[in-house]
Amino acid sequence: MTLLVAISGWDPQPWQEQFAALLPDRKIVTLDDPFDRREVHYAVCWKPPAGSLAHLPNLAALFSLGAGVDALLADPRLPDVPLVRIIDANLTARMSEYVVLHCLAHLRQYRRYLDQQQKGLWQDDRSQPAAHEISVGVMGFGVMGQDAARKLSAIGFPVRGWSRTPKDFEDYEMFSGPEGLELFLARTDILVSLLPLTPDTAGLLNHSLFSRLKQGGKLGGPVLIHAGRGGVQVEADILAALEDDVLKAATLDVFSAEPLDPDSPLWKHPSLTLTPHNAAISTPASIAHNIAAQIRSFEAGGLLQGLVDRSVGY
Ligand code: NAP
Ligand code: GLV
Repeated sequence: MTLLVAISGWDPQPWQEQFAALLPDRKIVTLDDPFDRREVHYAVCWKPPAGSLAHLPNLAALFSLGAGVDALLADPRLPDVPLVRIIDANLTARMSEYVVLHCLAHLRQYRRYLDQQQKGLWQDDRSQPAAHEISVGVMGFGVMGQDAARKLSAIGFPVRGWSRTPKDFEDYEMFSGPEGLELFLARTDILVSLLPLTPDTAGLLNHSLFSRLKQGGKLGGPVLIHAGRGGVQVEADILAALEDDVLKAATLDVFSAEPLDPDSPLWKHPSLTLTPHNAAISTPASIAHNIAAQIRSFEAGGLLQGLVDRSVGY
């Protein structure tokens, strides 16, 4: 029985080694190794080349090595077998660190004081709102959104959430669907997007949406933090919204084309903080362990956790 490590853009070797250690009774191959396609029962994937998973007649399940499966679903030749996305405590904790870090950086004007330090400037206008005065709206209130919400709440931020289907939480005001979007936006100072890229969310973070965020809040304008998927944002609209003062600032981890073009005007904009799609990185040690345990449980008759609903795209 073979497990295929189908990865592009990352080094497959540490993944192959981890799976070999955890599943010593299987053959673990990468796309570059010679292998018998009939022997492949499982594939673990990150952005595999389109069509590379076709013609695996005994494939039982596909595992995404990331939480987002948009790149996999974009392959028209993706086999029609259960597709499992990763839910991993380490990955989730990393995303929450990112969200908390950047919410605090905007709250405490981190970029401004860094700039002042570089200029040797001792200047303080006593304009520091408290966390409880700044409402954080989390779009995408799934595994990552909920964990980030808990940690933001612990710091004192009032948190609101927006999801596709209605949800009820004692600690957060919740909104759902297109009908809930207006009020959610109107009450949000810092918009955190952790949405998956689906046909419904593509291009959602656009100028029109930004213009409906709360104005007159204590940050001096709404702020965007986006660590979901680049295709959810319209980058030209982010720049336009910053120019129009519709947005005060933004932190972006994901981009419509990655790596971001060295000539992109996003790089040098003074109100943008950019990171190279590493808000939450998949590490072989914890994720391979998680998938190996799922395979063992599945073969013993258990249910797969984190099954993707292809009809909604996540
Ligand atoms: P998840 O548990 O599936 O949660 C997705 C959330 O988005 C759910 O609350 C879902 O609503 C909501 N949603 C989906 N479509 C929507 C729509 N049309 N309108 C409103 N809400 C919608 O996913 P997750 O584990 O939290 O991960 C979220 C995303 O983060 C991933 O898909 C991936 O793209 C991204 N990510 C990025 C990085 C990075 O390093 N930048 C790392 C990991 C993940 P329901 O609750 O109603 O289903
Ligand atoms: C990373 O972007 C992921 O989807 O896990």
